[in-house]
Amino acid sequence: MKKIIRYIGSKEKLLDFLSETIFNEYKNKQINFLDGFTGTSVVSKHCQENYDWNLFLSDISDYSEVISSRLFISLCSPKVFSILRELQKLDNHESLSDEKLVFFNEFSIKGTPRTVSKEAFSNQDVLSRMFFTEEVGKKIDLMRTHISNLFNSGEINEYDKRLLLMLVIAFADKNANTTSVYGAYLKKQDRPTVYIPESFIDLLEEEYKQKPTTPKGFFKGDIITNLKEMPELDVAYFDPPYNTRKYESNYHILNYISSLDFNISEIKEGSKTGLPSTKTKNLFGSKKGTRIIFKDLIETGMESSKNIFISYSSDGEMTKEEVFDICSDNNFEINVYTKDYKKFKANNIETAKSLDEIIYHIRRR
Ligand SMILES: C[S@@+](CC[C@H](N)C(=O)[O-])C[C@H]1O[C@@H](n2cnc3c(N)ncnc32)[C@H](O)[C@@H]1O
Repeated sequence: MKKIIRYIGSKEKLLDFLSETIFNEYKNKQINFLDGFTGTSVVSKHCQENYDWNLFLSDISDYSEVISSRLFISLCSPKVFSILRELQKLDNHESLSDEKLVFFNEFSIKGTPRTVSKEAFSNQDVLSRMFFTEEVGKKIDLMRTHISNLFNSGEINEYDKRLLLMLVIAFADKNANTTSVYGAYLKKQDRPTVYIPESFIDLLEEEYKQKPTTPKGFFKGDIITNLKEMPELDVAYFDPPYNTRKYESNYHILNYISSLDFNISEIKEGSKTGLPSTKTKNLFGSKKGTRIIFKDLIETGMESSKNIFISYSSDGEMTKEEVFDICSDNNFEINVYTKDYKKFKANNIETAKSLDEIIYHIRRR
């Protein structure tokens, strides 16, 4: 199981292209490599498996840090695998007080949300948000409470906790009543529960036995701030958002699952999709902001790294000309590599439009 969640912009299918254009060049070298917008961590995982590099990871999303725990597996304790095997089997949700049934009440069919009035759902049969079935919502609460108890009593360490939460995220996303993102839910109510197969946990245990080299760190937060805190890099790989659709309002539910301290005061009152009450400042969320942060990304990136590679799309917010202008203003050298690919929509209807996946390679002259 390579993919933990369904994710817009995941580079899972482009790893060969990335290897040909970027990675193979550094194959036998010992370099400091940054996966600057880690997302699902498929890129970092590929690099960990294939190269002997010092890896640095970075992303603004909490769930990205949790999902990347698979790369930090050498820091887990051996007992985490038996806990992982038991986690999805927990079913004593009657043991949870109503207060602990947060994912059931707030985000699931038949729940009783406290952060939105029932009138908001007058166009539906059920008067609740519908991201999960009752069974899945309660299971998420049960798993999170179990992890919380183990962590608070000191039975598991930070890395065990994250790996366990990764399984909760995988389970939740596999069962989510959505096309892909959490910006809306389907009207469907009778989705059968699907479990993450035992073979995945066997695979994790295998990976653990191989003692993979642990990355140097995961830097959580805005890329510009993070770049300033990193040691000197040889290669910074950036895979920024292509458009102004915000990851933090399309995958907010996964951020909530990732934090054991999550409580309902973090949900915006009256929001049908349960958006966060506080907005994360993120310049990628607007057209004007994208232009500001892209320039900063290239300039700060070049201060931190000898080479930067940016994955982008030909229908991305920034035009090729704009990217070239930033480079020529700074007297940076830029090369462009492209690959054709067809765009898939969340509902799997293939659009006729052919797009180019672009890689910009930028360095000093
Ligand atoms: C195209 S996706 C990266 C996908 C990733 N390479 C993969 O294969 O899964 C863009 C990522 O940028 C992150 N992001 C958005 N704004 C950011 C910011 N200002 N600083 C750091 N990360 C940001 C999002 O959380 C998202 O994971």
